[in-house]
Amino acid sequence: MKSVNDTYTLNNGLKIPCMGFGTYKAKDGKSTEIIGTAIRAGYRFFDTASIYETERLLGQAIRESGIPREEFVIASKLWIDEMGYEQAKKAFAASLERLGTDYLDLYLIHWPRSNAADPDWRTLDLETWRALEELYDEGKIRALGCSNFLPHHLENLMVNARVKPAVNQLEIHPGYSQEAAVAYCLAQGIRPMAWAPLGRFRDNPIVNEALGQMAEKYGKSVAQICLRFELEKGIIPIPKASGMEHMKNNMDIFDFSLSAEDVWVLSCMPQTAWIGQHPDFALPDKKSNPQQ
Ligand SMILES: NC(=O)c1ccc[n+]([C@@H]2O[C@H](COP(=O)([O-])OP(=O)(O)OC[C@H]3O[C@@H](n4cnc5c(N)ncnc54)[C@H](OP(=O)(O)O)[C@@H]3O)[C@@H](O)[C@H]2O)c1
Repeated sequence: MKSVNDTYTLNNGLKIPCMGFGTYKAKDGKSTEIIGTAIRAGYRFFDTASIYETERLLGQAIRESGIPREEFVIASKLWIDEMGYEQAKKAFAASLERLGTDYLDLYLIHWPRSNAADPDWRTLDLETWRALEELYDEGKIRALGCSNFLPHHLENLMVNARVKPAVNQLEIHPGYSQEAAVAYCLAQGIRPMAWAPLGRFRDNPIVNEALGQMAEKYGKSVAQICLRFELEKGIIPIPKASGMEHMKNNMDIFDFSLSAEDVWVLSCMPQTAWIGQHPDFALPDKKSNPQQ
């Protein structure tokens, strides 16, 4: 890969950029400023979700850019209260309306379970997926995917679904690199994608130390080391940033590579920097509202 818009070919033939731009909290009041700046910086792959409330802004920013819709890759997701066959169809139509487009490049189920205690999650996932498969058949979605699915959740789809997931978006960064889930995805031809790719490891002294040393050694920022680490592992990072400086910094990771030893070092960090939610085990204060 030589730039953010160099592509991977997904398991159904769709090509998508090796880095995207995350729009969670990219609201800046109600303006399109952050997303418009990201488009000017050169990003063409944008991640949104019904729960982020950025779909309208993303659609507007794309239209304002004057760049044809076909040059963008848009991923959106249906939220936990939009699961089920009928609900998924409605959720998809609402996302299209908010984005002002007539198709999505990627459409993902945001979480594998509507809540951690749901014993019927397998059926719910398959019913939701069936709706997505029909939309895929109709050409309204170019590739189907998952988010926060662990191998046992993916296996339900791999065994029982007609269309296999093309991507799986997971929390991945040094300090929480989800080795088992990433290995499963790569072995099954599912492209892993990293949310929170820059991590929130500031309080972990070992992860901080390792990243600080590598930033100095390679003459790069800690953010760039994190993103390069994900790129080296075949994972698509989707960092969010608020201004041109961070956006450009995050794109500038194609003129160096990490040694195999340093990739192992970062892959084996203490697993202490997790910020998300576990799909199968809810924390008492996060029962119905996982990390988005
Ligand atoms: N599937 C899911 O369940 C899920 C969950 C969470 C997020 N996501 C997706 O993943 C995207 C990324 O995750 P995220 O936004 O939580 O975390 P992130 O991209 O890892 O981190 C964003 C934070 O890093 C800062 N930052 C960006 N570039 C930087 C740089 N070069 N140097 C220093 N700091 C930098 C940003 O600050 P500034 O804003 O000040 O630049 C912001 O505070 C989201 O926007 C969303 O699209 C998906």
